[in-house]
Amino acid sequence: MKADKAYPKTVKIAEKTITLRPLLEEDGKAILDFARSLPEEDLLFLSFDITDENVVKQWIKYVKSGLWHTIIAENDNKIVGHATLLRTEQIWTRHLGELIILVAPELRGHGLGSKLAFEIFKKAEELKLMKLVARMAATQKSAIAVFERLGFRAEALLSDYVIDRKGQTHDLLAMSYDVRGFTQNL
Ligand SMILES: CC(C)(COP(=O)(O)OP(=O)(O)OC[C@H]1O[C@@H](n2cnc3c(N)ncnc32)[C@H](O)[C@@H]1OP(=O)(O)O)[C@@H](O)C(=O)NCCC(=O)NCCS
Repeated sequence: MKADKAYPKTVKIAEKTITLRPLLEEDGKAILDFARSLPEEDLLFLSFDITDENVVKQWIKYVKSGLWHTIIAENDNKIVGHATLLRTEQIWTRHLGELIILVAPELRGHGLGSKLAFEIFKKAEELKLMKLVARMAATQKSAIAVFERLGFRAEALLSDYVIDRKGQTHDLLAMSYDVRGFTQNL
C-alpha cells in the first residue's frame, strides 16, 4: 500500500487524541478486535461481516489493489472507527464510489464520523469520482440523519433489498452526494 504524505493526521474528539491514517496490511487483527467489540445492533446492518477474518483479508486486499480506500481512526493503538470508499471494477459505474462509515459507539456524536467522511470526500475528488452513494436500511433513522447532515440526499427506496443477521428483510435507502461541489464548499 502506497504511503500517503497527508497522513497521519490527529484530531481531538471527546477530549481524546485520535489519529487518522490509511489502513495498512498489518491492521487486520485490530480491525477484527474493533468489529468484534461492536454491539449487536451495529452488527445487524453491516454490509460486510467484518467480524469474519476472511472478509477482513479480502477488504485489505482491495485496499492494497487501490480499488478501495480506507481511513482508520485510532486511539491508544486501538481502531475506533473507519471510513471506506468502495469502488467496483464495473466500467459503467466508474464515476461512483460508495461510502461506509463506522465509529465506536462511545465516540459517536462528537464529529469523528464527519471528519472521516471528509477524508473520503477528498479522496473521491482526487479520483475524479462524480458521485458518492451510501446505502442503509430504511429503519436506520440516526444513520440517515447523519448522512443528511453530511450533505447526502435520499435517492431511492428499494423494497426488501437487504437482509439482516437475524434473517429479517428491510427496505434499502440509497442516498447520494455530488462530489464535484465538495471543494467549493470547504
Ligand atoms: C453513522 C456514524 C458513522 C456517525 O458517526 P458520528 O461520529 O456519530 O457522526 P458525527 O458526530 O460526525 O455527526 C455527523 C452529523 O450528524 C449529526 N448526528 C449525529 N448523530 C445523530 C443522530 N443520532 N441523529 C441525528 N443526527 C445525528 C451530528 O449532529 C452531526 O451534524 P452537525 O455536523 O450538523 O453537528 C455512527 O453513528 C455509526 O458508526 N453508526 C453505526 C454504523 C452506521 O450506521 N453507519 C452508516 C451506514 S454506512
